[in-house]
Amino acid sequence: MEAKRAIPSADQRWPWWPLLPLYPYGRKRTLVRELIPDQLWSVEQLQGVFYVAVPIRMTVARVRGGLMLYAAVAPTGEVRAALRDLEARYGPVQTIVLPTASGLEHKLAVPPLARAFPGAQVWVTPGQWSFPLQLPLAWLGFPMTRTKVLGDNGFPHADDLRWASLGPLDLGLGRFQEFACLHLASGALLLTDALVAIDQKPPDLFNLDPTPLLFHARDRGDEPLLDSPDRRQKGWERLALFASFLRPEALEVPALPALFSRAFRPGCRSPRTYFGLYPFQWRSSSTDAFAQLQAQAVDRLLVAPVLERLVFPRARPVVVRWLQELSRWEGVRWIVPAHYEAPIPYSAAQLSRLASAFEQRPWAPDQGNWGYLANLDQLLVRSGVVPSDALD
Ligand SMILES: [Fe+2]
Repeated sequence: MEAKRAIPSADQRWPWWPLLPLYPYGRKRTLVRELIPDQLWSVEQLQGVFYVAVPIRMTVARVRGGLMLYAAVAPTGEVRAALRDLEARYGPVQTIVLPTASGLEHKLAVPPLARAFPGAQVWVTPGQWSFPLQLPLAWLGFPMTRTKVLGDNGFPHADDLRWASLGPLDLGLGRFQEFACLHLASGALLLTDALVAIDQKPPDLFNLDPTPLLFHARDRGDEPLLDSPDRRQKGWERLALFASFLRPEALEVPALPALFSRAFRPGCRSPRTYFGLYPFQWRSSSTDAFAQLQAQAVDRLLVAPVLERLVFPRARPVVVRWLQELSRWEGVRWIVPAHYEAPIPYSAAQLSRLASAFEQRPWAPDQGNWGYLANLDQLLVRSGVVPSDALD
């Protein structure tokens, strides 16, 4: 049920973007896909900083008598219309789940989504935190009369779903926790941030707007945004490297004079090219670095490096135990994370193999592409912001 008709831009309006000022700001295009016939749907949008835009997914699962929404995306008119279509066929949205304690990008859309579906119960991961101020959920717009806490108040749809917590981990700044959810009817294991399968090719979502790919396919800020399949591929590889390592090894940040000398030139005086500002310079092949990143995967899945190095660097046993727990569940056939590709065919045996691989391989390394993340982590530990103890 891909959205093929032309969508009026008013239906893509997202007035709450100043809460988390990420690309594509006030206009969000959405791709809706059926992942498993009559059981599971993916609702995808782009989210990012400085055109480092990665796909974010809300998964819609069919439960007895209606639908459950796992990890919210912005409920634009387009999204609400797609959900109304599904409601007409499968019953009302009964439940909206915020499956993470820390992932702000999955949280901000929950209050407006809850307002769009006033009959739905909202379930949140415990220990929600907001930065820089610790605000009560009600102040953030959560409807307290119909909001419950996963674990503390039980779990929704016990007949249709199984739940397993990764964490909580004390990160000093706040806590990390996310809930995996197995949808028994389809065998899809829904995850939030912990594991991803990074698409080899640009995700279909970029067919709606390839600008972020074309932006990064360039080597200098004064190059125009040219479109071709090769350039989209190159741009995608670079986006994935940014999102994974924040600052990959192959990347050099040009000195400010060089940066500004190339900006504001004729042909690049438009916001679409950020006026020619392009603070990235690749000194070696981003394609090789992308291949290395993919090579870390076990049967396509990996821990996002930014999580492994900044959230789990001292918590390998916690991640391994969680995977072992999931591998004991019967009926796992697919993995559906909240970012990048889905669904990934996956079995319990593969989850167990993933746990062993994580136990044996080097964990949260310091070298190469990991260097920038490692420096950040060491800085946070040295300044006492995050605890240095091993978490097990
Ligand atoms: Fe996320």
